[in-house]
Amino acid sequence: MLVVHLVSAGAWIGLDVVLAILVFTALLTDDVRTAAVSYQALRLFAVWPLSTIGLVCLASGITLGLGTRYGLVRYWWVAAKLAINIVFVALVPLALRPAVSEAAAYGRQLTDGALVTLPTTDLLFPPIVSPAGLLLAVILAVYKPWGRIRKGARSSARAPAKASGSRSWPEANRRVADSRTDSAE
Ligand code: HEM
Repeated sequence: MLVVHLVSAGAWIGLDVVLAILVFTALLTDDVRTAAVSYQALRLFAVWPLSTIGLVCLASGITLGLGTRYGLVRYWWVAAKLAINIVFVALVPLALRPAVSEAAAYGRQLTDGALVTLPTTDLLFPPIVSPAGLLLAVILAVYKPWGRIRKGARSSARAPAKASGSRSWPEANRRVADSRTDSAE
């Protein structure tokens, strides 16, 4: 499952890099045909492939979390990754899809020779925000910072072991006293 998770995370970041290359090429090039092709190419992968790979990463991450001692909301780094993943998967249909459809339509108009202008800000944010968030998720996965969410969870997890070893103070003292008596006999 870790392999699926790593491959999907890598593929997701790779798609984001392609998204960034196409968006910045489209916005910065002086060649109208290159811009038109770049705008239209966005639609090929920017919605379904991105959504699918984001969901695979989410599902494999959840499976890993549940299958290991990390859990889903036991450690800050896992919970943060869960939040990043859910938000970014949701943003694809909600924010990226309309921007990409608009850009593709704009690309077609450019191909037809129309002189239209496209508001660029909608397209500018995804290739910056998404790789930054995914990079943060990778850093969180590798360094696992911040520890547990509930500090008490560790002591309560240890509590049964401690309790079975020493029980209550009076009982523990009684056992020590018993053992002394045993050895004295
Ligand atoms: C936002 C997208 C995500 C990216 C880019 C990402 C990236 C990674 C990477 C690179 C690793 C390998 C770390 C290592 O072995 O040192 C990893 C492991 C892991 N990830 Fe994710 N992840 C993401 C989402 C999630 C989600 C949503 C969850 C669960 C809620 C999750 C839970 C885990 C767990 C439990 C491990 C195993 C850590 C280990 O065994 O050392 N990840 N992730």
